[in-house]
Amino acid sequence: MANASGFFTPSVPKLRAKVQPSIGISRSGFCFSRRVVCSSGTEGAEKLVSPSESRMPKLVSKGCRLVGIGSAVPSLSVSNDDLSKIVDTSDEWISVRTGIRNRRVISGKESLKDLAVEAARKALEMADFDPNDLDLILMCTSTPEDIFGAAPQIPRELGCKNYPLAYDITAACSGFVLGLVSAACHIRGGGFRNVLVIGADGVSRFVDWTDRGTCILFGDAAGAVLVQACDAEEDGLLSFDLHSDGEGGRHLGAPMSDDKTDELLGSNGSVLDFPPKRSSYSCIQMNGKEVFRFAVRCVPQSIESALQKAGLVSSSVDWLLLHQANQRIIDAVATRLEFPQEKVISNLANYGNTSAASIPLALDEAVRSGKVKPGHTIATAGFGAGLTWGSAVIRWG
Ligand code: ACO
Repeated sequence: MANASGFFTPSVPKLRAKVQPSIGISRSGFCFSRRVVCSSGTEGAEKLVSPSESRMPKLVSKGCRLVGIGSAVPSLSVSNDDLSKIVDTSDEWISVRTGIRNRRVISGKESLKDLAVEAARKALEMADFDPNDLDLILMCTSTPEDIFGAAPQIPRELGCKNYPLAYDITAACSGFVLGLVSAACHIRGGGFRNVLVIGADGVSRFVDWTDRGTCILFGDAAGAVLVQACDAEEDGLLSFDLHSDGEGGRHLGAPMSDDKTDELLGSNGSVLDFPPKRSSYSCIQMNGKEVFRFAVRCVPQSIESALQKAGLVSSSVDWLLLHQANQRIIDAVATRLEFPQEKVISNLANYGNTSAASIPLALDEAVRSGKVKPGHTIATAGFGAGLTWGSAVIRWG
C-alpha cells in the first residue's frame, strides 16, 4: 500500500515472517521498501510488496548536480591568544606558520549530530527540497558520536518518513571529496536520485590540548551538499582522482589504545584473557613536517590528474578549493598549479582545520557570498590521515 509520500508500506501476513530490505523505485526515485519472506505458508514462500518487479534499480542517470549547500559551526570561538594561555605559543607563531587565527569548538550541550543536521537543513532549504525525497545520506566523518555510525540519526532528525539509506564514510580530511564521488557513483550507476553528502567532524574531542604542535590546528564544523540526478550535459562532477597510502599512515593518526588500568578477574580470581580489555582512541598524533611534505607533493599531482581527465587546464577553472589545513600548503599548491591568489578560496583563518567539513564549509560561504556562481568550475582536493588524498573537478549549480 502506498503512503502519502509514495513509498510502499508492507502488509505483513499473519504467518511468522522475516522482513528483509529490498530495492524499489518510488515516485520520488530510488528507495528501500520491504520484502516479506514467509517462513511457511500455502501461497508460496515469498511475497513481494515492493512495486519493483526486479531487485535491480531501473533508473540510471548520466549526471549529477550540486544543487544546495549549507554549513554550521559551534558557538564557542577560540582565538590564538586564548590558546597562548594554555600552551606555550603565540598568535604570531600560529598565524605565520598556519594562517589560522580562530577556530570553533563544540562545547556545552552542542553535538556533532546537531551541527550536521543544521548544515543539512540549510542545504535542503537552499534547494527548496523536501527531506522525504532524499534516498541516501552519506555522513563523512572520522569522529562519530557513536562508533557504529552517525549517519542513521540524520534522517531521523530531519524528519524523513521514508527511511532513506544513511551510512558513514571514514576518510579523515579526504572524507568530503570521497563522499561526493560516492554520491555520483550511487546516482550514475545505482539508481539513487537525491543524495545528501555531509562532511562533519569534531576533531577537538581527539586533540591533546597540552600539545602545541597539534591543538592549534583544528576546529569543529559541518557542511552539507545536496547532489541530484540530472542529464549528462548538466553533470556537476567532471572528473576525480582518489588515493590512499597506508605506509604513510604512521605520520598522522589517532590509533586505538588498550586501557591497561583495569584487569578483568574471573570468578576464581584468575586474570581473564577474554573478554578483551576495554579500548579507547589516543589523541591525534602527527608528524607535521611529513604531513606537510606529503600534501605539497601529492595534492598538485592529484589535481593535475583530475584536470587532465576533465580535459581542462587550471587557467580554464574558476576556483581552487583545497582542504583547509594550512595556508602555506594552500599557497604552495596554488603556486605549483599556477592558480592566482584571487582564484583561491580560503576561510581557514576563521575556522582552522575542520577535517571533512572544511571543503563544504568554505564552499558554502563562497556560494552564499556570491563569489561562486552557478556554472562555475572548482578544482577541489582533500588530504589527510590514512594517508588519503583525492581531487574532484566540480561544477556548482
Ligand atoms: N607555537 C610555538 N612554537 C611551536 C608550536 C606552536 N604552536 N608548535 C611547534 N612549535 C615549535 C617546535 O617545537 C619547534 O621548535 P624547535 O625548533 O625549538 O624544536 C619549532 O616550532 C618548529 O616546529 P615544526 O614542527 O618544525 O614547525 P613547522 O614549520 O613544520 O610547522 C605545522 C608545524 C604548522 C604543524 C606544519 O608542519 C603543518 O601545518 N603541517 C601539516 C599538518 C596538517 O596539515 N595536518 C592535518 C592534516 S589533515 C587530517 O587528516 C587531520
